[in-house]
Amino acid sequence: MSSPALAALAALPQAELKTIFETDADRLSKLVLSQGALRFDWSKTHLTDELIDGFLKLAAEQDFAGRREALFAGEAVNNTEGRAAEHTAQRGVGNADSVALAKALHNRTRALIDAIEAEALGPIRHILHIGIGGSALGPDLIVDALGGDGMRYDVAIVSNVDGTALEKAMDAFDPEATLIAIASKTFTTSETMLNAASAINWMVEAGVEDPYGKIIALTAAPEKAMEWGVDETRILPFPESVGGRYSLWSSIGFPAALALGWDAFESLLEGAAAMDRHFQLTDPRENIPLIAAFVDQYYARVLGCETRALFAYDERLALLPSYLQQLEMESNGKSVKLDGSPVDGPTAPITWGGVGTDAQHAVFQLLHQGTILTPVEFIASIEPGNALDPAHHRALLVNCFAQGAALMRGKDNADPARAYAGNRPSTTILMDDVNPHALGALIAFYEHRTFANAVLMGINPYDQFGVELGKEIAKSIEANGPTGFDPSTMALIEIALGE
Ligand code: F6P
Repeated sequence: MSSPALAALAALPQAELKTIFETDADRLSKLVLSQGALRFDWSKTHLTDELIDGFLKLAAEQDFAGRREALFAGEAVNNTEGRAAEHTAQRGVGNADSVALAKALHNRTRALIDAIEAEALGPIRHILHIGIGGSALGPDLIVDALGGDGMRYDVAIVSNVDGTALEKAMDAFDPEATLIAIASKTFTTSETMLNAASAINWMVEAGVEDPYGKIIALTAAPEKAMEWGVDETRILPFPESVGGRYSLWSSIGFPAALALGWDAFESLLEGAAAMDRHFQLTDPRENIPLIAAFVDQYYARVLGCETRALFAYDERLALLPSYLQQLEMESNGKSVKLDGSPVDGPTAPITWGGVGTDAQHAVFQLLHQGTILTPVEFIASIEPGNALDPAHHRALLVNCFAQGAALMRGKDNADPARAYAGNRPSTTILMDDVNPHALGALIAFYEHRTFANAVLMGINPYDQFGVELGKEIAKSIEANGPTGFDPSTMALIEIALGE
């Protein structure tokens, strides 16, 4: 390990969770921190005062304070692409010029939403949002989490180039009453452009009078959207400095703002801004995203855990694991440091997870008795998302808390097949409710935690060159046919595509 602080951390002895609780009477007061409607409990992890002190040294060694300041100042923290990462400015926190620009662009989005509500584009009932990766996962999460009965429009978010997804959405919608939002930061992503072209054809074939009049573009490349045929008045731009997987706060959040209403969208931004200010201004020892990153670093880099699992004990957050997979793995699944030198240990673990209680009956066997140590994160809400008998929500929460206790406590049994080793760590995030403000804060927490992890590892979380090679090869097969590939790839193409 080239980091002396990390090497010192790795040399510290590890106590059992049960023992840590027995010997530290103050554990809850130190390892439960709250921000607004969110309560974070790390007491069932192996974090101790000694480890926190060690990680604070690692943070100082990696210039956490300097890199955090650079992030909020709008400096080019994305060094490989020479760009800032200004998602916080979208929430009103950061460089003053960038905040002013974000406000102006939000006003433009709001004005278009007002016009759509006033039926300036005809009577709209359905929103067909076409985008992929960061141009889809964020809006999908928000609409799914907050939609419920209060949705003012039907929303379908189509990402996959597999036509089955688009066909299903089109079958459910009336083309005359559909608004198509093409969401693409670059406005070149092949899946999105093909889906958008097919959606236009669907409108044309249905005899919609002015199909292009019902297209909205959400993009950082407005000139490309115009070339494609979108009228300038219906292009909602966002700055290049907002990364794709950090873009739901920008015009990419348009379907959520339209379907849930502007007040809800604004509240989402305010919740995120509250977490921004906490991350920006709070001392490292009480800084929630930073402490979460200490836990991540301990398991991934000190103990070598290759995955981390999260389970939303709330159907409203069912899409959170897939949203976080992109955020965490696309950001921190890297092999080189900021200066281009190779990293000297693991970087991001594999993020995976699901919904409780379903997951208990599918994957929890491995968590309790498998040989791979997996740090687990539980996310739950005190308020239910339904009006059924409160027994449902009580059972949901009881199960959530029981799993964390069981992982930690374990159970002896004379029959080894029935014994639980215990000492398995978990974090619990308890929300007062899943509302726009709390959800905004929760997502911003994950963004800052991802950044804090990157700082502690000395890597750049804001580029994603790893996704390019596969795209290039697919493009070359489309353009030049299958030539010069290995026998396996050639045979697959021949059998499936007849080329
Ligand atoms: O391929 C990865 C990626 O570049 C993501 O980072 C991004 O969110 C997604 O593709 C979509 O890109 P765009 O918004 O430019 O269509």
